[in-house]
Amino acid sequence: MGFHQTHETNQVLLSKIAISDGHGEDSPYFDGWKAYDNDPFHPENNPLGVIQMGLAENQLSPDLIVDWIRKHPKASIYTDEGLLNFKDIANFQDYHGLPEFRNAIASFMGKARGGRVKFDPSRIVMGGGATGASETVIFCLADPGDAFLIPSPYYAAFDRDLQWRTRAQIIPVHCNSSNNFQITREALEVAYKKAEESNIKVKGLIITNPSNPLGTIYDRDTLKSLVNFVNDNNIHLICDEIYSATVFKSPSFTSIAEIIEEMDHCKKELIHILSSLSKDMGLPGFRVGILYSYNDTVVSIARKMSSFGLVSSQTQHLLAAMLSDEEFVDNFLVENSKRLAKRHARFTEELEKMGITCLNSNAGLFVWMDLRKLLKDQSFESEMELWRVIINEVKLNVSPGSSFHVTEPGWFRVCFANMDDNTVGVALDRIHSFVGKIDKKENSTIPMPPKKKHRENKLRLSFSFSGRRYEEGNVLKSPHMMSPHSPLVRAKT
Ligand SMILES: Cc1ncc(COP(=O)(O)O)c(C=O)c1O
Repeated sequence: MGFHQTHETNQVLLSKIAISDGHGEDSPYFDGWKAYDNDPFHPENNPLGVIQMGLAENQLSPDLIVDWIRKHPKASIYTDEGLLNFKDIANFQDYHGLPEFRNAIASFMGKARGGRVKFDPSRIVMGGGATGASETVIFCLADPGDAFLIPSPYYAAFDRDLQWRTRAQIIPVHCNSSNNFQITREALEVAYKKAEESNIKVKGLIITNPSNPLGTIYDRDTLKSLVNFVNDNNIHLICDEIYSATVFKSPSFTSIAEIIEEMDHCKKELIHILSSLSKDMGLPGFRVGILYSYNDTVVSIARKMSSFGLVSSQTQHLLAAMLSDEEFVDNFLVENSKRLAKRHARFTEELEKMGITCLNSNAGLFVWMDLRKLLKDQSFESEMELWRVIINEVKLNVSPGSSFHVTEPGWFRVCFANMDDNTVGVALDRIHSFVGKIDKKENSTIPMPPKKKHRENKLRLSFSFSGRRYEEGNVLKSPHMMSPHSPLVRAKT
């Protein structure tokens, strides 16, 4: 494909949405993907390539799914056993979805939340991944210009998913490390009041529980206070719970669904849940996103809108059978969480031995790594400088905190579940030798401090760059910029 048109020509030919940069992809979060795509690590073919640690994928348990598919050939429509269903499934196109699919999803959502809450299949609305489902709910709730409060740091692609086509806007509510980035009612009130003073209509609050990028969960009291906040202001609460089944150690996950059942005074019609199989089951390619709303009108409108992003009927058919196999689901959820726990423990313990700490977390597919001690000074310029070294020299694609709208420089999100054990080993070795080089550099320029103190100080760095750099301009302007859902940027290990 040629990209010959000039910017000026496109200004005339294309829509404002098409030519605006509302896609939000001009960010190091996406640039990192490009760096990986240019030079992807492969243990044999490209052992010095970039390791993809910017991809929140759960690749630890596909064997369990493959095994189930092998044992259930009738669930696929391309096998001898399943071909009988081919015609019906290939013709099915009702935007309500296959009843057995909605039942199975409702049951899975309950199990992924510890079986403490039940979901009504008639409230399940399909979307093309949580990406599609989240845009749909924004279209239902907001007019262009309306705003949503979101505690920051928040998922980098929300800038695109929630704002670009809907023309709604995000108001970050900044949280910081002093209380482990927890949201407070006070911070919400301040942000809400400020928006009102600027004549911005706040339509809701959006949280991601468990959090991306923090890997932490909201406790019951905080969730209750958030429900009270939206009730008091008569605005919506959207809970993105797409990481609910990635909780791998205590405390256990509490869904907003549980909280509103317990509360005496709660306007349920203000509550909406986003769910997906992308993270919980490691099936992002299936594009199964769910909007579950307690508001009847939202369910009805969203269902009509879902025509723009349905889940294909063959996927529904397969998953209806898989997710209604209770024994399989129960076993998958337990085993997957064990594997995540093991990987998380290995990764964080090894980092700790090198003097690198992460925010204490118990969920998600990533850690929130604290590299503040490595910054030349506490600025986002220094964070970018460090990020470039990590990408270009250490050859790891990690995502800098700035892309998640955090206000304190020096934090990085590092994904640990999208690769095999050997690749984790290579990544840890690279970090180890990077830290070792910093040590040596320090030792050659400053007198050796006493041993314990040396460990505390060892991560303070002044950089000297060498090696190849990515031309920033090329990365940012490339028409081939990969989106996070592109199969081309998958970890090839
Ligand atoms: C918090 C959050 N919401 C939504 C999405 C999009 O998920 P999906 O692949 O189901 O569209 C992601 C993906 O990383 C995410 O982290």
